[in-house]
Amino acid sequence: MITTVSTTPIAGQKPGTSGLRKKTPVFMGPHYLENFVQSIFDVVGAAGKTFVLGGDGRYFNDRAAQVILRMAAANGAARVIIGQGAILSTPAASHLIRLNKTDGGIIMSASHNPGGPTEDFGVKFNMANGGPAPEGVTEAMFRRTTEITTYKILEAQDINLGTIGRHHLGAMIVDVVDPVSDYAALMESLFDFPAIRAMFASGFRMRMDSMCAVTGPYAVKIFENRLGAPAGTVTHAIPLPDFGGMHPDPNPTWAHELMAEMMGDAAPDFGAASDGDGDRNMVVGRGIYVSPSDSLAVLAANAHLAPGYAQGLTGVARSMPTSAAVDRVADALGIACFETPTGWKFFGNLLDAGRVTLCGEESFGTGSDHVREKDGLWAVILWLNILAVRKQTVSQILQDHWARYGRNYYSRHDFEAIATDKADAMMAALRGTLASLPGQMVEGMRISAADDFAYTDPVDGSVSTGQGVRILFEDGSRIVLRLSGTGTEGATLRLYLERYVAGPGGLDHDPQEALAPVIRAAHDLAGIARFTGRTAPNVIT
Ligand code: G1P
Ligand code: ZN
Repeated sequence: MITTVSTTPIAGQKPGTSGLRKKTPVFMGPHYLENFVQSIFDVVGAAGKTFVLGGDGRYFNDRAAQVILRMAAANGAARVIIGQGAILSTPAASHLIRLNKTDGGIIMSASHNPGGPTEDFGVKFNMANGGPAPEGVTEAMFRRTTEITTYKILEAQDINLGTIGRHHLGAMIVDVVDPVSDYAALMESLFDFPAIRAMFASGFRMRMDSMCAVTGPYAVKIFENRLGAPAGTVTHAIPLPDFGGMHPDPNPTWAHELMAEMMGDAAPDFGAASDGDGDRNMVVGRGIYVSPSDSLAVLAANAHLAPGYAQGLTGVARSMPTSAAVDRVADALGIACFETPTGWKFFGNLLDAGRVTLCGEESFGTGSDHVREKDGLWAVILWLNILAVRKQTVSQILQDHWARYGRNYYSRHDFEAIATDKADAMMAALRGTLASLPGQMVEGMRISAADDFAYTDPVDGSVSTGQGVRILFEDGSRIVLRLSGTGTEGATLRLYLERYVAGPGGLDHDPQEALAPVIRAAHDLAGIARFTGRTAPNVIT
């Protein structure tokens, strides 16, 4: 029986491009999930449609899935394809949406944010192209949440999501599918699995840290079962509702166990980690960390070694704060390189239009046109493919890369939980100085240009302004400052630092040392301590 439940709007249900993210108890509050899900269906329409559903397994994932299924049935959806146990990584969900030509999908995740009864939960809608709903759509969903008076739900028992196969919920079909198999098949279609298998067979060792999050089952099946990596290669392989207390954000700070192992005497050849929902990745060689910007550049330069990219790349794209390392590769390849604002959504049009094949962000996101989300395991397997073909170490590959293209020393400094008014005042003051900066000398470097980044989408012509302050120096160094759009406590200032050194000499410095003058210049120009009281960042990547 379908019940129409009376409800009233709940303030603050405003989804960003990563969906609606709130503390779990908020999501579990009366009508909270229901109001938002009904608003999604009211905007995109559910009658007769097919959706994909799954999440990263965090606390409340299983129960939220049952509610969403009952609401989809009550709203007239024809069919929902759901991962067994309500599990799907974000890239796997994107793939299933595309593979089955569905009308979109709902992903339950708060990405790399911790999970648990008092941590974070999230719900996001992806469109039929497999990518996150664009701003116009999320805005409409938000407006709907402010007007909602009823939602529809089916009175029914829980579906057994543990059993693969076809179930029925009222008139709706529920297909419970293996969350891994279609995704693994996609990877096998893109990469040279036999070459990677031969590399593992010859003694190559890897450590994959799934951080008790969603990629565990994917990584075990792909690396250990299909590629022949020894059992135990994947650690923290079982997704847990609270991620085992880990903060599943693959960077040197939060993936410190992996970092310690990779920098230690018994380090394996290759290490990687991924985040809560499997779209981010970090890659580490024995004794050497690969910055995400360098990773993107190396992948772009070597992608043709993988069967899925053997025809070459049509173009590449990077977010503005990402280092220009990939630009040099694009130059050498004679292909276009697009500089987009921060956030994966800005790659969508370029990918759909076939203008770019590879794209990435400095925030541990890399991907290609195979899905419409960044894809952590995809990046790791592409690295494996490159290592298997080149038969060199990660360190050798990086050294070669820098010798050929020069090195873009790069680091991001995050200043978290700053009082919002102080952060805003600092950015406003800095924006006020931009016109006077060109020509000035700071730390012995001359400023060549300064602006607030604006972007015109080359496909649909839409304009995004105020995307971050850029200060460029004559020697190729660069400072970028912007406030985070995803932080949950106060404001987070992100300071991005870059310095270019041409090869082959001067390449082997510690990035923080190499960047020291750029860091001092940034503090000087922005007055970070004066405005915020902070002299040092809390996270450095
Ligand atoms: C951060 C990253 C950005 C990424 C986003 C979603 O956003 O910096 O690159 O797309 O998370 O994963 P920010 O908090 O900086 O707005
Ligand atoms: Zn994520």
